[in-house]
Amino acid sequence: MKQFEISSEGGAATHSETGTRRLAVNAAFLRDIKDDNQDLKMLLDQITPITRHPQTAANHWPELITLMSDLRDQLALHFSLEEAYGYFDDAVDSSPQLSVTAEVLRSEHPFLFAAIRDLSDQVSEVCSDRPEEVNHFIEQLDSFRRVFEKHEENELELILDSLDDDLGVGD
Ligand SMILES: [Fe+2]
Repeated sequence: MKQFEISSEGGAATHSETGTRRLAVNAAFLRDIKDDNQDLKMLLDQITPITRHPQTAANHWPELITLMSDLRDQLALHFSLEEAYGYFDDAVDSSPQLSVTAEVLRSEHPFLFAAIRDLSDQVSEVCSDRPEEVNHFIEQLDSFRRVFEKHEENELELILDSLDDDLGVGD
């Protein structure tokens, strides 16, 4: 089964030889984007109970198709906002370690988006009266959610580390 493993291989983190510019985060903006994204939270809150049990999912399949397409669109917006306002090139200040983490996390967006786009395509191809297809889809979705939640967690950690770095706290 295909898992949505995110790897930094080939990511922008390997391109630090391009000079002194470093990728940094606008910690306040990035945090605002996450806090303000009520639509994304609402969608995930609607999808979670429906997909907790395969039979429930099967009973709500047309609704799930709509929700998955809404989730794809929301994530497209979410990643674009983060990339437009949450990350920036910093010529001077940011620490090399934070910059590497920022590069890795930003480079996960295309993989995450490709995964949710595939899922929103797949959901409409599933025969909801075939339990094995429903189960398979739910496993794929759960796997995506774990990777996405980890990504979000790591970005929140990066926000905190960047704030500490600005304040001169920590190592
Ligand atoms: Fe992100």
